[in-house]
Amino acid sequence: MKLAKQIEKKLNDQVNFEIYSAYYYLGMAAWCEERNLNGAGHFFRLQAKEELEHAMKFFDYILERGGSIALEPISRPAASYKSLRDVVSAALKHEREVTSRIEEMMDSARAKKDYATQNLLDWFVEEQVEEENSMEKILARMDLAGDKGAGLLMIDKELGKRGRETS
Ligand SMILES: [Fe+2]
Ligand SMILES: [Fe+2]
Repeated sequence: MKLAKQIEKKLNDQVNFEIYSAYYYLGMAAWCEERNLNGAGHFFRLQAKEELEHAMKFFDYILERGGSIALEPISRPAASYKSLRDVVSAALKHEREVTSRIEEMMDSARAKKDYATQNLLDWFVEEQVEEENSMEKILARMDLAGDKGAGLLMIDKELGKRGRETS
């Protein structure tokens, strides 16, 4: 089944949005590391990498379906935050926006009876549950530890463990 133009456009928009997400998290990594929150910086660097992988999943899929890639400029992400809590809560808000975009794409794929795209999006639906949950968990831990002094350092240290140990 040929990829519908409307779906192709949405998939291309998502390539852009995932790369924007990587950029957004890179901005967060910079904000953290400029303030010596190197654990959080490490966490957001990995987050940025993951977003690029997401972009490539959509990119590869468009090509696999015989569609064409339309790359657009990437917007400049926000760069000013009040605290690490502010950063993480912006990250959660961002992930919720990604989730609603994925759901919207799913609605279109269903309307067009495009089962292959629904299959691709199923993976992302599951991924978004994880993404939102990981930010929610950090926020909850921050509410326990506080986002100043020793509590902040503890959270920073925890975030620095991402990908460095098996949990
Ligand atoms: Fe993503
Ligand atoms: Fe994400």
